Amino acid sequence: MRGHMVYFAFAKNDETKRLLRTERRAGMNAPAKTDDFVVAENQAAAPAAAKIPDGVYAETVLAVEHYTDRLFRFRMTRPAGFRFRSGEFAMIGLMVGDKPVYRAYSIASPAWDEELEFFSIKVPDGPLTSHLQAIKPGDTVLMRKKPTGTLVLDALTPGKRLYMFSTGTGIAPFASLIRDPETYEKFEEVILTHTCRDVAELKYGFDLMEEIRNHEFLAELVGDKLKHYPTVTREEFSHKGRITDLIENGKLFSDLGVPALDPAVDRGMICGSSAMLKDTKDLLEKAGLVEGSNNKPGEFVIERAFVG
Ligand code: A2P
Repeated sequence: MRGHMVYFAFAKNDETKRLLRTERRAGMNAPAKTDDFVVAENQAAAPAAAKIPDGVYAETVLAVEHYTDRLFRFRMTRPAGFRFRSGEFAMIGLMVGDKPVYRAYSIASPAWDEELEFFSIKVPDGPLTSHLQAIKPGDTVLMRKKPTGTLVLDALTPGKRLYMFSTGTGIAPFASLIRDPETYEKFEEVILTHTCRDVAELKYGFDLMEEIRNHEFLAELVGDKLKHYPTVTREEFSHKGRITDLIENGKLFSDLGVPALDPAVDRGMICGSSAMLKDTKDLLEKAGLVEGSNNKPGEFVIERAFVG
């Protein structure tokens, strides 16, 4: 049975189940973060011809959308039997010459979706993204079999308000979680912050909100529980500044009409560059929140897998 089937059980009736299946195409993709990194494959598994290595999935690209010269998303088929928890990441790869090249990508689609979505940066000389940015529908993308990660609901203790702090492609795991009904079962309010250099880089986040608002099933379930707080740092916009500054000076909370961070009710997830992770973590700890993990749930979690 496929991983997303668990949400068919959640669905209240047959009509809702049908919508979950048919609406799966409405999603977007988001991948992971910052620096490209390569994981060397077992060389013995890469013979002269560009043979797909054993033990990895080879999936088909279904759609590609380019947002800026630095950002794009793609959707691909989901292997039968591939299960993951919303917010986890997987190793995504391509054959480059006769060798597979991989990089960690957050799965941006929710666990119930029958396709997989990723949101990616384009690094001009990146070992993987310099090639990945050229993929087209019908191409083959590799994926290692085991997803993992800390940005999962299970790693948080119960709370009322969930903050998702992201910069750049760090929005990817949250693109998965904000489309997962379980997020709204566990939290009364969900606040997604997304900070980029300029407004064009925020588009994926705006598209996600639009998709949820127009989604036959999610729209009702999410209602007004989800708040989007986009900010930019390098051009004029309604919300300006690094999220860390906006936490520190309290503007984030006054703009949203919510009280300051409180470990009794607030929970956090952080995904961004290593400097952003550190600075945001320091602020959450200053407010009294304690970091958690899969083994020891806590009041906030960080994804460090993407940091170079
Ligand atoms: P800034 O423009 O002030 O550097 P990038 O595209 O380089 O990954 O950055 C994405 C966003 O993250 C930018 O808006 C950037 O702001 C912001 N940022 C970079 N470092 C930090 C940090 N230490 N704390 C909070 N935000 C950061």
